[in-house]
Amino acid sequence: MTRLLADLASPYLQGLTPYIPGKPIGEVERELGIAGAIKLASNENPLGPSPLALRALRGMLSESHRYPDGGGYYLKQALAKRLDLTPGHLILGNGCNELLELAARCFLLPGDEVVIAEPAFVIYGMLAHLQGCVTVRVPLDAWTHDLEAMAKAVTPKTKIVFIGNPNNPTGTAVRPAELSAFMHALPEDVIVVIDEAYIEYSPPEMVPDSLGFVRQGRPVIVLRTFSKIYGLAGLRVGYGMAPPSMVELLDRVRAPFNVNALAQCAALAALDDKAHLADSRATNERGKAYLLEQLHRLGLDCPPSVANFLLVDLKQEGRAVADALLREGVIVRPLGGATLKNHIRVTIGTPPENERFIEALKAVLEKPSA
Ligand SMILES: Cc1ncc(COP(=O)(O)O)c(C=O)c1O
Repeated sequence: MTRLLADLASPYLQGLTPYIPGKPIGEVERELGIAGAIKLASNENPLGPSPLALRALRGMLSESHRYPDGGGYYLKQALAKRLDLTPGHLILGNGCNELLELAARCFLLPGDEVVIAEPAFVIYGMLAHLQGCVTVRVPLDAWTHDLEAMAKAVTPKTKIVFIGNPNNPTGTAVRPAELSAFMHALPEDVIVVIDEAYIEYSPPEMVPDSLGFVRQGRPVIVLRTFSKIYGLAGLRVGYGMAPPSMVELLDRVRAPFNVNALAQCAALAALDDKAHLADSRATNERGKAYLLEQLHRLGLDCPPSVANFLLVDLKQEGRAVADALLREGVIVRPLGGATLKNHIRVTIGTPPENERFIEALKAVLEKPSA
């Protein structure tokens, strides 16, 4: 008897549904027969890529017949200098998503326990499931990681604790002192993945010294990305910081040319684009203040975000509102599950995008069917 294809696949694929990313603008316009849609669904930088990165990219295109530098020498040198680390503390990834995958493949075995906040970035749970791990979910407290409860959830079987800081989809962050206390309470052989994809948007008092744990040699992987504030999501480049002995293990499961040449050269240029960074931060802060005020006027609440997106409690089913917004040409992210059924996540855009979202939301909420 021939086996079914599903029987040939890893048993851990059962019960796993694919990650559904925010819809691309072109797809929405094609499907709905509309033009001029805006996307506020994937927490991209609404100002676009750094102009310095664009200039560097143009110069690099003619080198496209060459494989990239598999070791990412120049980008690692620049990052090491910037972060007061050595290149040996760094690993580059095809987005920090790939680094999450490498960490899972490198360290997680069937039966291991993984501690994750609920809700958190869905990829953490998917990767743990794929490795056959037991996922221990710890509810947020006041929309923020409850690190005390997460430390208590750790058992001798715990291999990795994932902390999204700021957290996606809430935009909230833990206080630096809470993270220090958590690390103090944690057994030294539990790996902590601190996902700082949005950290550049956070005010300085909310930025923990997570690299301090890396320098101390704790089994910590800190992840950052060029997809968010640096505006290079389409190129796919992120970086991880960990003790060199850990980087050496992660490197064993990394594909040889995982970060393409254009991504490396654009990231290197973007790193030095102070004006683009400052503009992006200022646009985000202004946009956040505007959106919070407008949402408040509509009687809608959001947890306190230190990132470039807001989690909006619509007090009615989020998916229906998101679908209606889509028909208005505004793409936002519906969430789901028991806790977030009434929520959408909206990326903070440019001033015209934010105004368009608010106008569309008002129109949708006024319709009795929304
Ligand atoms: C919390 C968090 N971590 C990681 C990622 C992945 O980012 P990248 O584009 O670097 O793969 C995202 C992307 O949305 C995210 O929200």
